Amino acid sequence: MHAITGITGQVGSQVAKELLSSGHQIRAVLRDERKARAWRELGCEIALAAMNDAAALTRAFTGAEAVFVLLPANFDPSPGFTETKGIVEALFTALSAARPGRVVALSTIGAQAAQENLLSQLQIMERRFEDLSLPVAFLRPAWFMENAAWDIAGAKELGVLPAFLQPVDKPVPMVATRDVAAAAAQMLEQEWSGRKVLELEGPHRVTPSEIALTLSSLLRRDVQTQPVPRSTWETLFRSQGMKNPGPRIRMLDGFNEGWLEFASKPEHIRKGPTSISTVLRSLVEQSGC
Ligand SMILES: NC(=O)c1ccc[n+]([C@@H]2O[C@H](COP(=O)([O-])OP(=O)(O)OC[C@H]3O[C@@H](n4cnc5c(N)ncnc54)[C@H](OP(=O)(O)O)[C@@H]3O)[C@@H](O)[C@H]2O)c1
Repeated sequence: MHAITGITGQVGSQVAKELLSSGHQIRAVLRDERKARAWRELGCEIALAAMNDAAALTRAFTGAEAVFVLLPANFDPSPGFTETKGIVEALFTALSAARPGRVVALSTIGAQAAQENLLSQLQIMERRFEDLSLPVAFLRPAWFMENAAWDIAGAKELGVLPAFLQPVDKPVPMVATRDVAAAAAQMLEQEWSGRKVLELEGPHRVTPSEIALTLSSLLRRDVQTQPVPRSTWETLFRSQGMKNPGPRIRMLDGFNEGWLEFASKPEHIRKGPTSISTVLRSLVEQSGC
């Protein structure tokens, strides 16, 4: 049996469906009983556990052949990443107690970066999990192509794609979440010892200009990138309710300045097959635009 956290989210749901389609038994680890029914109907066991509840997570992981773990995204962390450290500690305690056969943890491109930024949360997880005396694999995907979902309505209504990734013709490593899930499912099925890292991107690197051009064709209207000036980000993010926008700004700086990159040599980075145009087409269809 494989225990899957984050199963109601974009990566976890696809990991579970991949494994179900290969005949595996799944334990859906979720925090909200109201979301359990759909997974019960697919034949999953259900374990209710919030990510900071070590006792509930221990029950959820006990008896699992393999566990898929992710950190809920937190774009507005407290200084010092207090919430993340609490979740990582709860996961560490639960994995140490339950001792599943192996762990696949969803990390990120740039988890190894020395400069503090939003992705340091994944580095905190990786470093703590190094102390687990279990086989642990860190899956480090690129920027999710599905992040473009935030931009579809504005592109359709205003013909504008606000760009924080700059310059807009600079290619950025991106990957489709379906390819992330496929890689995770494959890792969960494998056996290994010790620690391993898999870095993953899509078939080619993507520029904001390419996203705008593709959306122009899908939405049948002109869509232009509009770089958001770096000097306005802090005020903008605070006006959107963020209390601590620094780590997010430093993450964007990291991609733009090139210090958030893969650690491996290019020939060792796995390439998923799904293109940005395939993902954008799905996002446009789902948005009803
Ligand atoms: N976006 C990117 O470009 C990118 C790139 C690389 C890596 N990543 C990493 O990918 C991860 C996010 O994956 P995703 O996009 O699949 O996530 P997602 O779609 O946002 O889903 C988050 C999942 O976590 C669950 N969750 C949230 N808070 C929880 C809590 N306190 N206790 C228990 N469950 C909780 C959610 O459950 P509910 O349904 O109950 O909310 C949901 O199942 C993050 O760690 C992020 O750093 C993201």
